[in-house]
Amino acid sequence: MEPKSANITWQHSTIKKEDRNKLNKHKSRVLWFTGLSGSGKSTLAFALEQQLFRRHYRSYVLDGDNIRHGINRDLGFSPQDRTENIRRIGEVAKLMVDAGLIVIAAFISPYEQDRSMVRTLFADGEFIEVFIDCPIEECERRDVKGLYKKALAGEIPNFTGVSAPYEIPQNPDIIIDTSQLSIGESVRKIMDYLD
Ligand code: PPS
Repeated sequence: MEPKSANITWQHSTIKKEDRNKLNKHKSRVLWFTGLSGSGKSTLAFALEQQLFRRHYRSYVLDGDNIRHGINRDLGFSPQDRTENIRRIGEVAKLMVDAGLIVIAAFISPYEQDRSMVRTLFADGEFIEVFIDCPIEECERRDVKGLYKKALAGEIPNFTGVSAPYEIPQNPDIIIDTSQLSIGESVRKIMDYLD
Protein backbone atom coordinates (compact mmCIF):
# COMPACT_ATOMS: atom_id res chain seq x y z
CA MET A 1 0.00 0.00 0.00
CA GLU A 2 1.22 3.51 -0.84
CA PRO A 3 2.16 5.59 2.25
CA LYS A 4 -0.28 8.42 3.05
CA SER A 5 2.47 10.93 2.34
CA ALA A 6 3.15 9.75 -1.24
CA ASN A 7 3.11 12.18 -4.19
CA ILE A 8 4.27 15.19 -2.25
CA THR A 9 7.38 17.24 -2.95
CA TRP A 10 9.39 19.42 -0.56
CA GLN A 11 9.28 23.11 -1.57
CA HIS A 12 12.40 25.11 -0.80
CA SER A 13 12.38 28.69 0.47
CA THR A 14 15.00 30.99 -1.03
CA ILE A 15 15.69 32.31 2.46
CA LYS A 16 17.96 29.97 4.38
CA LYS A 17 18.14 29.34 8.09
CA GLU A 18 21.63 30.89 7.99
CA ASP A 19 20.15 34.12 6.52
CA ARG A 20 17.58 34.29 9.32
CA ASN A 21 20.29 33.63 11.93
CA LYS A 22 22.36 36.46 10.47
CA LEU A 23 19.37 38.83 10.63
CA ASN A 24 18.66 37.81 14.24
CA LYS A 25 22.37 38.02 15.18
CA HIS A 26 22.22 34.63 16.90
CA LYS A 27 21.99 30.98 15.98
CA SER A 28 18.74 29.09 16.27
CA ARG A 29 18.66 26.10 18.59
CA VAL A 30 16.37 23.78 20.47
CA LEU A 31 16.91 23.38 24.19
CA TRP A 32 15.09 20.15 24.96
CA PHE A 33 14.13 19.99 28.65
CA THR A 34 13.31 16.49 29.90
CA GLY A 35 12.39 15.52 33.45
CA LEU A 36 9.71 14.29 35.80
CA SER A 37 6.44 16.09 36.40
CA GLY A 38 7.14 18.74 39.03
CA SER A 39 10.88 18.77 38.36
CA GLY A 40 10.71 22.44 37.36
CA LYS A 41 10.76 22.23 33.55
CA SER A 42 8.09 24.88 32.92
CA THR A 43 9.28 27.29 35.63
CA LEU A 44 12.82 27.14 34.32
CA ALA A 45 11.74 27.29 30.67
CA PHE A 46 9.80 30.54 31.18
CA ALA A 47 12.56 32.04 33.37
CA LEU A 48 15.10 31.26 30.65
CA GLU A 49 12.80 32.72 28.00
CA GLN A 50 12.62 35.97 30.03
CA GLN A 51 16.40 36.16 30.20
CA LEU A 52 16.81 35.45 26.48
CA PHE A 53 14.13 38.04 25.64
CA ARG A 54 15.92 40.67 27.74
CA ARG A 55 19.09 39.96 25.77
CA HIS A 56 17.16 40.37 22.48
CA TYR A 57 17.28 36.69 21.54
CA ARG A 58 14.23 35.44 19.65
CA SER A 59 12.91 32.53 21.66
CA TYR A 60 9.73 30.64 22.37
CA VAL A 61 8.63 28.02 24.90
CA LEU A 62 6.80 24.86 23.85
CA ASP A 63 5.33 23.44 27.04
CA GLY A 64 3.72 20.02 27.65
CA ASP A 65 0.52 21.18 29.31
CA ASN A 66 -0.01 23.96 26.74
CA ILE A 67 0.61 21.84 23.67
CA ARG A 68 -1.77 19.21 25.00
CA HIS A 69 -4.53 21.86 25.03
CA GLY A 70 -4.28 22.31 21.27
CA ILE A 71 -2.25 20.54 18.62
CA ASN A 72 -1.96 17.36 20.73
CA ARG A 73 -5.29 17.34 22.50
CA ASP A 74 -6.11 14.00 20.86
CA LEU A 75 -3.23 12.32 22.72
CA GLY A 76 -3.16 10.71 26.15
CA PHE A 77 -0.34 9.17 28.18
CA SER A 78 0.04 5.65 26.80
CA PRO A 79 3.57 4.89 25.53
CA GLN A 80 2.30 5.18 21.92
CA ASP A 81 0.63 8.54 22.56
CA ARG A 82 3.68 9.92 24.33
CA THR A 83 5.84 8.86 21.37
CA GLU A 84 3.48 10.61 18.95
CA ASN A 85 3.38 13.66 21.24
CA ILE A 86 7.17 13.95 21.16
CA ARG A 87 7.36 13.22 17.42
CA ARG A 88 4.96 16.09 16.61
CA ILE A 89 6.72 18.49 18.99
CA GLY A 90 10.06 17.54 17.44
CA GLU A 91 8.71 18.45 14.01
CA VAL A 92 7.24 21.74 15.29
CA ALA A 93 10.53 22.58 17.00
CA LYS A 94 12.40 21.85 13.78
CA LEU A 95 10.21 24.32 11.87
CA MET A 96 10.75 26.94 14.56
CA VAL A 97 14.52 26.42 14.51
CA ASP A 98 14.37 26.75 10.72
CA ALA A 99 12.49 30.03 11.28
CA GLY A 100 15.44 31.29 13.33
CA LEU A 101 14.20 30.86 16.89
CA ILE A 102 15.71 29.48 20.07
CA VAL A 103 13.09 26.94 21.05
CA ILE A 104 12.76 25.80 24.64
CA ALA A 105 10.83 22.53 24.61
CA ALA A 106 9.66 21.43 28.06
CA PHE A 107 8.23 17.90 27.98
CA ILE A 108 8.59 14.94 30.28
CA SER A 109 9.71 12.99 27.18
CA PRO A 110 10.33 9.89 29.29
CA TYR A 111 11.65 7.58 26.57
CA GLU A 112 15.28 7.66 25.45
CA GLN A 113 14.29 6.40 22.01
CA ASP A 114 11.87 9.31 21.44
CA ARG A 115 14.46 11.88 22.53
CA SER A 116 17.10 10.29 20.28
CA MET A 117 14.66 10.34 17.37
CA VAL A 118 14.08 14.09 17.87
CA ARG A 119 17.85 14.67 17.98
CA THR A 120 18.15 13.12 14.51
CA LEU A 121 15.86 15.86 13.10
CA PHE A 122 18.51 18.50 13.81
CA ALA A 123 21.98 19.35 12.59
CA ASP A 124 25.00 18.76 14.86
CA GLY A 125 24.95 21.08 17.86
CA GLU A 126 21.44 22.36 17.17
CA PHE A 127 19.71 20.02 19.63
CA ILE A 128 20.73 20.58 23.24
CA GLU A 129 19.36 18.07 25.73
CA VAL A 130 18.83 19.53 29.19
CA PHE A 131 18.10 17.00 31.93
CA ILE A 132 16.00 18.64 34.63
CA ASP A 133 17.20 16.31 37.33
CA CYS A 134 15.16 16.42 40.50
CA PRO A 135 14.70 13.46 42.88
CA ILE A 136 11.18 12.05 42.69
CA GLU A 137 10.82 12.47 46.47
CA GLU A 138 11.27 16.22 45.97
CA CYS A 139 8.80 16.28 43.04
CA GLU A 140 6.28 14.44 45.24
CA ARG A 141 6.91 16.85 48.10
CA ARG A 142 6.34 19.88 45.83
CA ASP A 143 3.32 18.29 44.12
CA VAL A 144 2.34 21.69 42.72
CA LYS A 145 -0.61 20.32 40.74
CA GLY A 146 -1.65 17.65 43.25
CA LEU A 147 -1.02 14.97 40.61
CA TYR A 148 1.36 12.78 42.65
CA LYS A 149 -1.22 12.53 45.44
CA LYS A 150 -3.82 11.38 42.92
CA ALA A 151 -1.39 9.06 41.12
CA LEU A 152 -0.26 7.42 44.37
CA ALA A 153 -3.91 6.90 45.26
CA GLY A 154 -4.32 5.09 41.94
CA GLU A 155 -6.51 7.83 40.44
CA ILE A 156 -4.20 8.60 37.47
CA PRO A 157 -3.09 5.64 35.37
CA ASN A 158 0.32 5.67 33.65
CA PHE A 159 1.69 8.47 35.79
CA THR A 160 5.40 9.05 35.12
CA GLY A 161 7.61 7.94 38.00
CA VAL A 162 4.70 6.26 39.79
CA SER A 163 3.06 3.85 37.35
CA ALA A 164 4.91 4.68 34.11
CA PRO A 165 8.67 4.75 33.47
CA TYR A 166 11.07 7.67 33.18
CA GLU A 167 14.30 6.76 31.39
CA ILE A 168 17.14 8.91 32.69
CA PRO A 169 19.15 10.61 29.89
CA GLN A 170 22.47 8.80 29.44
CA ASN A 171 24.39 11.64 27.86
CA PRO A 172 22.63 14.99 28.35
CA ASP A 173 24.38 18.19 27.26
CA ILE A 174 23.38 19.99 30.47
CA ILE A 175 22.18 18.67 33.85
CA ILE A 176 20.23 20.97 36.15
CA ASP A 177 19.45 19.68 39.63
CA THR A 178 16.57 21.94 40.65
CA SER A 179 16.67 20.59 44.21
CA GLN A 180 20.16 22.10 44.56
CA LEU A 181 20.15 25.18 42.32
CA SER A 182 17.90 28.24 42.48
CA ILE A 183 16.00 29.29 39.36
CA GLY A 184 18.49 32.13 38.83
CA GLU A 185 21.47 29.78 39.14
CA SER A 186 19.85 27.29 36.78
CA VAL A 187 19.18 29.99 34.15
CA ARG A 188 22.78 31.19 34.48
CA LYS A 189 24.13 27.66 33.96
CA ILE A 190 22.19 27.33 30.70
CA MET A 191 23.14 30.86 29.56
CA ASP A 192 26.82 30.04 30.24
CA TYR A 193 26.47 26.96 28.06
CA LEU A 194 24.88 29.00 25.25
CA ASP A 195 27.48 31.78 25.52
S1 PPS B 1 5.08 13.37 27.80
O1 PPS B 1 5.37 12.21 28.67
O2 PPS B 1 6.31 14.04 27.37
O3 PPS B 1 4.25 12.96 26.66
O4 PPS B 1 4.25 14.39 28.72
P1 PPS B 1 4.01 15.96 28.49
O5 PPS B 1 3.47 16.23 27.14
O6 PPS B 1 5.24 16.71 28.89
O7 PPS B 1 2.83 16.29 29.51
C1 PPS B 1 3.08 16.24 30.89
C2 PPS B 1 2.01 17.01 31.68
O8 PPS B 1 0.77 16.35 31.63
C3 PPS B 1 0.19 16.27 32.94
N1 PPS B 1 -0.15 14.85 33.14
C4 PPS B 1 0.70 13.79 33.25
N2 PPS B 1 2.05 13.69 33.29
C5 PPS B 1 2.59 12.43 33.38
N3 PPS B 1 1.86 11.29 33.42
C6 PPS B 1 0.51 11.36 33.37
N4 PPS B 1 -0.20 10.24 33.40
C7 PPS B 1 -0.12 12.64 33.28
N5 PPS B 1 -1.43 13.04 33.23
C8 PPS B 1 -1.41 14.38 33.13
C9 PPS B 1 1.12 16.91 33.91
O9 PPS B 1 0.58 18.17 34.25
C10 PPS B 1 2.42 17.08 33.14
O10 PPS B 1 2.99 18.36 33.29
P2 PPS B 1 4.38 18.62 34.09
O11 PPS B 1 4.70 20.05 33.75
O12 PPS B 1 5.42 17.68 33.57
O13 PPS B 1 4.03 18.42 35.53
